[in-house]
Amino acid sequence: MMFSKLTRPQSIVFLCRGVHSSLGSANSVATKKTIQRPVSSEYIFEREAKYGAHNYHPLPVALEKGKGIYVWDVEGRKYFDFLSAYSAVNQGHCHPKIVNALKAQSEKLTLTSRAFYNDVLGEYEEMVTKMFNYNKVLPMNTGVEAGETACKLARKWAYTVKGIPKYKAKIIFAAGNFWGRTMSAISSSTDPSSYDGFGPFMPGFEVIPYNDLPALERALQDPNVAAFMVEPIQGEAGVVVPDQGYLTGVRDLCTKHNVLFIADEIQTGLARTGKMLAVDHENVRPDLILLGKALSGGLYPVSAVLCDDDIMLTIKPGEHGSTYGGNPLACRIAMAALEVIEEEELVKNAEIMGNILRNELMKTPSDVVTCVRGKGLLNAIVIRETKDYDAWKVCLRLRDNGLLAKPTHGDIIRLAPPLIIKEDEIRECIEIIHKTILSF
Ligand SMILES: Cc1ncc(COP(=O)(O)O)c(C=O)c1O
Repeated sequence: MMFSKLTRPQSIVFLCRGVHSSLGSANSVATKKTIQRPVSSEYIFEREAKYGAHNYHPLPVALEKGKGIYVWDVEGRKYFDFLSAYSAVNQGHCHPKIVNALKAQSEKLTLTSRAFYNDVLGEYEEMVTKMFNYNKVLPMNTGVEAGETACKLARKWAYTVKGIPKYKAKIIFAAGNFWGRTMSAISSSTDPSSYDGFGPFMPGFEVIPYNDLPALERALQDPNVAAFMVEPIQGEAGVVVPDQGYLTGVRDLCTKHNVLFIADEIQTGLARTGKMLAVDHENVRPDLILLGKALSGGLYPVSAVLCDDDIMLTIKPGEHGSTYGGNPLACRIAMAALEVIEEEELVKNAEIMGNILRNELMKTPSDVVTCVRGKGLLNAIVIRETKDYDAWKVCLRLRDNGLLAKPTHGDIIRLAPPLIIKEDEIRECIEIIHKTILSF
């Protein structure tokens, strides 16, 4: 898309000088008269391009409001949100219960740092550990910090419990993983757009193919392996669902070789795939669980690592933390976000709506879509690229038809609406997707 020059400011300011002041006088009094004009999408695109780093390539739509499953752009056009901020907004945009929790706590106490106790953290810790059945939780902010925390816990456990010689511990990852953008996260990445140009990389990381138990078994022969960190479904890789039995196999191999099984549930967790955790599809219990994104319902960065005492208590006071981690505002928001998932039965709804979505999309009489896959409401379609269209063009037309989705890896479109979506609404969305695909 071509952008015109940055010429459409939000408001036009006329400077009206007093009649007696000479033009150009440094201390002439200027009164401001402002004519408000609505901000256009074009203006927003141009301003971001001019003043912001170019580290994203957003779909050209400029949003100003969200409510439930809908978002509105600055021109007032309404869209179904089929990305849900990469599954952070499982509870729907601006969920009133979570917003109220934020408002109430923000007027009382927001941040103490962990230099002092606060009266909310323990309540949250008790709730989240009981909900997921782990002894302890370590609260952080962004998802990638939960991943970093898990790596540190795994290394500490390796040296103090497993007995791996100092600084020889290895962590195994699966090809196609995505857990964020820090130096550690990109050091385990197999995606050149994540890592290329940013080396040298973190040592002690190894990558094996995803969904490949024999490869894991081979990797675990090394006695210095501390942990295997894996997504139960790879979200950013394009909603890659492993074979049934993979997670059970991972659990068994990790147990057999005394290696920690770290499940990155930051995108798959919290009802997204039609279970509270995606590992619940196979009833396995990882040693560490990473949560983020929907843990705040999209209001605030809140992440967490859950595990039992033998792992968590290897980290001692002063050895890890974060100024904002576990702050009372985050804890109140997270508690409300978790309550919404339970009260509104989002697990069940994600499962039912996901089945409808996949079943209907599989019926699309078109060879534009070569594959429909997913679990619950974490789904993807694969677009057959031709010289006339690709996933980006399909997303632009979906947008024009009132539905927002984003391509990943060129030919994949993730379809992940908020989990509060109802049957008539998902059917309307299916119609939009059908209509769009058939228009190519
Ligand atoms: C599985 C997974 N882990 C970790 C992260 C990183 O989360 P954040 O962007 O909040 O750091 C993501 C983000 O997409 C993710 O999908």
